[in-house]
This record gives sequence, structure tokens and C-alpha cells, in this order.
Amino acid sequence: MERTVLNGLKVKHSVFDTLLARFFAVALERTRGYDSFLIRRLYWNFRARDISETYGASTSDFEILLTVIASVNANRVLDLGCGSGRLFPLYERLGLHVVGQDISRNALNLAKARHSCENITLLNSRVENIDFPDKYFDLVISNRVLQHIPPNTIESSVASICRLARSVYVNELSDTDGIIQQRGYIFTHDYVRLFGNFGFKLRDSGRMDRQTWLLFSKTS
Ligand SMILES: C[S@@+](CC[C@H](N)C(=O)[O-])C[C@H]1O[C@@H](n2cnc3c(N)ncnc32)[C@H](O)[C@@H]1O
Repeated sequence: MERTVLNGLKVKHSVFDTLLARFFAVALERTRGYDSFLIRRLYWNFRARDISETYGASTSDFEILLTVIASVNANRVLDLGCGSGRLFPLYERLGLHVVGQDISRNALNLAKARHSCENITLLNSRVENIDFPDKYFDLVISNRVLQHIPPNTIESSVASICRLARSVYVNELSDTDGIIQQRGYIFTHDYVRLFGNFGFKLRDSGRMDRQTWLLFSKTS
């Protein structure tokens, strides 16, 4: 099946990818509670094209992100779990310096194919291994990414984010809608507590469709 997607790019949505993604989703359910990073990475590799085709052109959160970026006066941004670069046109429009990180190499390859990536550095690594100086980033944007990090590694991921940034934007599916099912790849976390542990205070929040967004900043 061939579909025309984003920026005229033709992407083959392969049945093979879908089947493998399902296989690794089942594997993730079974390994819940263990450090299943390798399986998690494989799962996201095989979901990359599907996610890019389904959501890759959405701009529904751009207005809120514009407000958030302006409110913290951000110039250097870390886009955590950037996927195929859905937010890159927004960064390019604002002339921001951005690092786009994702555990999925396939997603980053799609990002490269879709965007010129001027002023955007792509990084295929774990959050814990992002090697930048303390407080290098004005803002970390985590749009529907931390919800995919399991309970056994969320603390260390948040610790790394808090070392790297002055402010953090988190957007998640909201557990109040009854749409979150605790499966092997989606989790609910107490972000106020997690970021509070590192001196980050909630400075703004809101709702967007079936999602909740939170903006934290480090208090000096
Ligand atoms: C629902 S997509 C969101 C993509 C993008 N943030 C957006 O707003 O369009 C989730 C993304 O998070 C990535 N991801 C999942 N777990 C991750 C982790 N531990 N570290 C970095 N990226 C991760 C996946 O590969 C996928 O690209």
C-alpha cells in the first residue's frame, strides 16, 4: 500500500513493519518491570513510519508551543523523542537551535528525509546518554514521550532532563479520560513529584483535546 504523505514524500507503509511492531508490543507487555530497552527500541523502529504517516503533519499544538517557547524565552531546545520531526517546521520558523533526540533510528531517518534540518542536530541515544553541559538547553520539549518510559527508568530519565535544562514542557495523554491502558508501552507518571525532586516547579498547564500539558521551570 502506497500513500502520499507529508511534503509530497511517498512512504511505503509496510505490512512487515506493522506485524513486527505488534510482535514487539506483545513482548513489551511481557517484559513490564524489567529493563526492556532493546525491545522498546525495536518496537519504536517498527512504529516509526506508521506514526509519521498518521500524525506527522499535525500542527494542532503549535499555538500552545509558541506561547510556551516565548514564555521561557527559549533559543536552545531539546526535542526529546522528536520522531520524524513533526515539530521541526515550528523550530525552523522561529530560528531556534535544536537537538532532536529519539531512540528510533528509523524515525530520525524519516526526519532527515522530510526536513532540511538546518540548525537541527539529530541524536539517536538514550536520554541518560545525552552528553551536553549542565543547563545547556533553555527548554526540553517532551511531546507524548515520557509517557512511554517505564516506571523502572523514569526517575533516571527525569534526572537527566533536569540536569540538561532550565524548563521542561511535557504533553501526555491524560489519565483522567479513561483512555490510558497500562500496557507495556504507555504509563502514567506523577510529573509534579518527579520534577519537584529536582527543584522544578509547575508554572503553567492546560488541556488540549484528550491531552494534558505541563510546563516546569527550575526555581533558583
Ligand atoms: C507518540 S511519538 C511522538 C513523536 C513526537 N514527539 C511528536 O510530537 O510528534 C513517541 C516518540 O517517542 C520516541 N520514544 C519512545 N521512547 C523513547 C525514549 N525512551 N527516549 C527517546 N525517545 C523515545 C519514539 O521513538 C517516538 O518517536
